[in-house]
Amino acid sequence: MPDGSVPMPDGSVSMLHGGVPVLEDARGASAACASAGWRGVHGVSALPEPGTALALVLDDVTCTFPARGSAREVYTAVRGVSLTVYDGEFVSVVGPTGCGKSTLLNVAAGLLAPTTGEVQVFGERLTGLNRGAGYLFQSDALFPWRTALDNVVAGLEFRGVARSQARSRAMEWLRRVGLAAHAAKYPHELSGGMRKRVALAQTWILGPRMLLMDEPFSALDVQTRQLMENELLDLWSQDRRCVLFVTHDLEEAIALSDRVVVLSAGPASHPIESFRVDLPRPRDVQEIALHPHYVELHAAIWQALKQEVLKAHERIDA
Ligand SMILES: Nc1ncnc2c1ncn2[C@@H]1O[C@H](COP(=O)(O)OP(=O)(O)OP(=O)(O)O)[C@@H](O)[C@H]1O
Ligand SMILES: [Mg+2]
Repeated sequence: MPDGSVPMPDGSVSMLHGGVPVLEDARGASAACASAGWRGVHGVSALPEPGTALALVLDDVTCTFPARGSAREVYTAVRGVSLTVYDGEFVSVVGPTGCGKSTLLNVAAGLLAPTTGEVQVFGERLTGLNRGAGYLFQSDALFPWRTALDNVVAGLEFRGVARSQARSRAMEWLRRVGLAAHAAKYPHELSGGMRKRVALAQTWILGPRMLLMDEPFSALDVQTRQLMENELLDLWSQDRRCVLFVTHDLEEAIALSDRVVVLSAGPASHPIESFRVDLPRPRDVQEIALHPHYVELHAAIWQALKQEVLKAHERIDA
């Protein structure tokens, strides 16, 4: 167990950073809130006020899959994962490739039922799809036969919103993401960054209570990615939905988040450390990377992540 870690009654691990317990267990969260007063390591963090609702709880989640080539054996992708996200909180999960990040996001989205453990969404046990969530994938998930406008309209249409009203709301969203002039274009006529903007508008227009994002910008070039990250922060800061963001990119995780959770290498991946990102907001992802505390945080998180990345590579090579 890493230095500074505290074993929780349920077997999960809570870390002490600068004396501030960062608990990944819903049952311990209120105690942490009271004892820590939600103060970050270097001053008051942007984290939830005492009493803020728990938006998402993964409680002791384990996911197994049938092992390839064996009818009886299973592969345990994640084991005993307890993870909480508060309303309004932006949490990133980082970990080496193949450790189970997308698996956890699929569990939170209700696309995959955990083998054991449970998920709660705003206090209710999740039994099917997480309908209050917006999901943004790594790959483009736009309808290729629909224009940008019609892609943004789609979700409202499915919900039965009148076509004229849906179109005017979708147009407003395209304006917000800077694509008003491209409303009539089809996805193949848009750049990768533009397609991501359409996807953001398509997700946000439905007013999801939480956002689940799986490496949404990883296919973009560095400059476009940074633009998109800033746009995401702008959108998010307007109404602060809770976000669970999966990435293997530590810089992105720190620049965007209130908290970064590090997963161990698989199999049986689980959170090993949780870091509060008490950097000032609003943030510009390029500028925040020059902040002295960003550099400290990066070094501390990389210290934890690096071991797991090395383990993952050894296992892939073996
Ligand atoms: N449906 C499935 N059937 C069998 N194995 C699966 C299935 N889904 C995921 N896995 C395995 O579970 C592990 C975790 O996969 P997952 O896609 O969650 O990893 P990840 O952390 O998102 O990886 P990456 O960073 O490459 O996106 C992997 O070893 C993967 O092969
Ligand atoms: Mg993945």
